[in-house]
Formats: sequence, structure tokens, C-alpha cells
Amino acid sequence: MTLDWKRISAALLALAAAGVLFAWAGLLDVRASTGHWRVTDWFLHWVMRSSVRTASLGKEPPAFTPAMLPLAAGHYEIGCAGCHGSPALPPPVAAQNMLPPPPDMNEVSGSWSDAELFEIVRHGVRYTGMPAWPAPNRDDEVWAMVAFLRAYPQIDSDTYRRLAGFSATQSRDFARVLQTCEGCHSSERLDRDSLIPRLSGQSEAYLRDSLEAFVSGRRPSGVMRAALSQVAQEDRQKLAMLYANQPLTDQIDGTSVERGKTLAQLGDRERGIPACTACHDRTGANPAYPQLAGQSAPYLQNQLRLFKAGTRGGGPFAEIMTKAATGLSIEDIKALAAYYSTLSRN
Ligand code: HEC
Ligand code: HEC
Ligand code: HEC
Repeated sequence: MTLDWKRISAALLALAAAGVLFAWAGLLDVRASTGHWRVTDWFLHWVMRSSVRTASLGKEPPAFTPAMLPLAAGHYEIGCAGCHGSPALPPPVAAQNMLPPPPDMNEVSGSWSDAELFEIVRHGVRYTGMPAWPAPNRDDEVWAMVAFLRAYPQIDSDTYRRLAGFSATQSRDFARVLQTCEGCHSSERLDRDSLIPRLSGQSEAYLRDSLEAFVSGRRPSGVMRAALSQVAQEDRQKLAMLYANQPLTDQIDGTSVERGKTLAQLGDRERGIPACTACHDRTGANPAYPQLAGQSAPYLQNQLRLFKAGTRGGGPFAEIMTKAATGLSIEDIKALAAYYSTLSRN
């Protein structure tokens, strides 16, 4: 068979051009959401396995001792759990969506020898995000990690927390978790148009069920799943209880409304509080006095607090309102806000 070099090079050139065209047309899929083709996946793993097998030849593991576990678990919590998850917490959502996803360590230890695990942890895996050990010449540390990975399937959540040195019943930092929730759900931030629901005063059972449904995906929400991804189960229960018992700042309870009504209509002379109705929501009053009826309670509370503190500011008559608010207690403010929020605006 004679080779026609001209034809072959033309064909190769055409192939290369087609490849470039393919990429230029946007047909090369770089979306991490769709995953590799099976064959790509298989091939990449095969390459990795072969490479790790060869590199690990002749490595002799030391004897594993329990003393290796605390340092390895502590480092695992800081350096590995953020991608792989831990016996205490699943990996963060962002890590689960990496390609390839960092595998669950329960499924890992069976498929590699000690020497191979050493090789992976010591040098990392190129093109995957799996990093190398952060210091050279510390094979002892790497072996401790291998000992930990071997024991991993037998380590439950409490043992892990004890080994790694953080409290057995809490997420890494409960105060910070709560701050995250409040960042979105705080009653003060929510108005009538809010797409974020109010949690205060909701039943504990409903809150707990909702949280578990977000975590399991039975109620899909990327926002809530990410928010909960680093929150331990004990803490989810604690949050449900906490929000269920949180008094509704704008809860309309009868006594509060009554009290607000009395104060609004009569004021309290002894404490220097004028009747609000002298100025507000009265036909024929100065049109510079705003309507309060039907305004949301959190908003009213907030404004009254600001007036009381002298920081509300406003139009030309704002000063008289600042005076009217100076004598108000926190309870007064809640009651007045509750009362006015129940009235309908006409
Ligand atoms: C930035 C994310 C990231 C961090 C941090 C990380 N890994 Fe990985 N790791 C990965 C990814 C991604 C893979 C998958 C590589 C693959 O499938 O080819 C992986 C693979 C592994 C594997 C091989 C599993 C297998 O069967 O393919 C081991 C073992 C491992 N990691 C241990 C660790 C340890 C121990 C640490 C902490 C010292 C750590 N990893 C830190 C992302 C990470
Ligand atoms: C980035 C904003 C954000 C953060 C942070 C956040 N949430 Fe949410 N949360 C939402 C949104 C938006 C929804 C509505 C989800 C939907 O549309 O299904 C929601 C829904 C909920 C629900 C369901 C309420 C109902 O009435 O059905 C609960 C319970 C909840 N969140 C609790 C929490 C807790 C506890 C935290 C803290 C760990 C938290 N959220 C953090 C935005 C957030
Ligand atoms: C002497 C008249 C006067 C009295 C009495 C008075 N207010 Fe006001 N109030 C005003 C004026 C004027 C403003 C508008 C300030 C501005 O320019 O923003 C105002 C504003 C407000 C606002 C802000 C409304 C908004 O939409 O931002 C609230 C809330 C309020 N008053 C509540 C009360 C309550 C509750 C009382 C009774 C304890 C009361 N006021 C008594 C004159 C009065």
C-alpha cells in the first residue's frame, strides 16, 4: 500500500480545523453540571490508578498506632472535610458539585493499599482539585493520615469530633450558624413582599420537618441547601426549637393590642406620652402627619425605636415626633406597633 502523504496531511489538517470549529461553535461541553462522558471518566480514573500504583511501589507503611489519629483527624477537619465531608458533616454543596466530586472516604479506603493512599495524600491528584500534603519531608504526618483513613469507616460522628477536638453536640460554631440564618430570616429584614419566610413563632415540628426536607432534597432549594450544608443535625433541631420559641416581634396578641389602643388614644400623662391620635390617622389633621393604620408592625417598631433614640430624622415636623417618642418603653413600642398594624387604612 502506498501512502499518499499529501492526502494524509490534508486530512489531518481538516480534522484539526474541524476540532477548532467544534470548540468555537461552543459544542465542547465544559459544564461541570453534566459530568464527563462515561468513557472519559473511566479513562481518567484508569490513568490515575495506574500512576498511583506505579509511584507507590516499594513503600513500606509503618505500624499504625491510636496516637496517630487525633492529629490526623484534626488536620482532616481543617484540610479535607471541606471537600470530602467528615463523619460529622456531609461536604458543602459547592464541593459536591465539583467535577470529579471528592469521594466519600467511606468508599475510598477499601479500594487502595496503604502505600497507594500515602501516594495520593502526599502528592494530591492533578487536574482534580485534590491538593498535595502542605509540607514536604513529613512522611510521618502523611502516614498518620493514612492510618486515619483506614480507620475512617469505623469512626462515628462523636468519636470523630472528640478526635478532631470540637464539641460533640454542635456545628463548628453555633453562633455563626445562627448569624447566617438571621442574615436572611431576621424579622427585621422581612417586609410584606419578602420572598424569604418568617420563622419566628412557626411550630417546632414544621420547622424541623422543613429543615430535614431541605437537607435530603425532598424540598429542593439551592439557597437553603447551601445554608444548611454545614449545620449538624443536632443543631438543626436546636434551630427549629429556637425559632419556634422566638416571640414574634410583630405577633398580634390581644393584650398587647389592647394596651396599644389605650396608649394611642389616651397617652400617658405621667410619663409624658401624648395621645398618638391627637396627630395621626385623624380627619382634618395636618397632612404632614403620616398614617399609621395598616403599616407593618416591624416597620412601626423600628421607626419608633429610631425616634426614641433621636436618630430618625424626617420632614419639618419630625422634632415633635421625637418628643412624642422619648417616654416610650420597649413594651409600649411593641404594643403600639401591634395595635396600628391591626387597623385598616382608609
Ligand atoms: C479542594 C478539594 C479537596 C481537598 C481539600 C482534599 N481533597 Fe481529596 N480529593 C479531591 C478530589 C476532587 C478527589 C477525586 C480525584 C479523582 O477522582 O480523580 C480527591 C481524591 C482523594 C482520594 C482518592 C479517592 C479515590 O478513590 O479516588 C483520597 C484518599 C483523598 N482525596 C484524601 C484526601 C485527604 C486525606 C485530604 C486532606 C489532607 C484531601 N483529600 C483534601 C478533592 C479534595
Ligand atoms: C441566603 C438566604 C437564606 C439563609 C442564609 C437561610 N435561609 Fe432559610 N430560607 C430562605 C429562603 C429564600 C427560603 C424559602 C425557600 C423556598 O422558596 O422554598 C427559606 C426557607 C426556610 C425554611 C422553611 C420555612 C417555611 O415556612 O416553609 C426554614 C425552616 C428555614 N429557611 C430555616 C433556616 C435556617 C435555620 C437557616 C440557618 C441555618 C436558614 N434558613 C438560612 C433563605 C435563607
Ligand atoms: C404632635 C403630633 C404627634 C404626636 C402626638 C405623635 N406623632 Fe407620630 N409623627 C408626627 C409627625 C409630624 C411625624 C412625621 C415625621 C417626619 O417628618 O417624618 C410622625 C411620624 C410617626 C411615625 C413614622 C411613620 C412612618 O411612616 O415612617 C410613627 C411610627 C409615629 N409617628 C408613631 C406615633 C405614635 C405611636 C405616637 C403616640 C405615642 C405618635 N406618633 C404621636 C407627629 C406626632
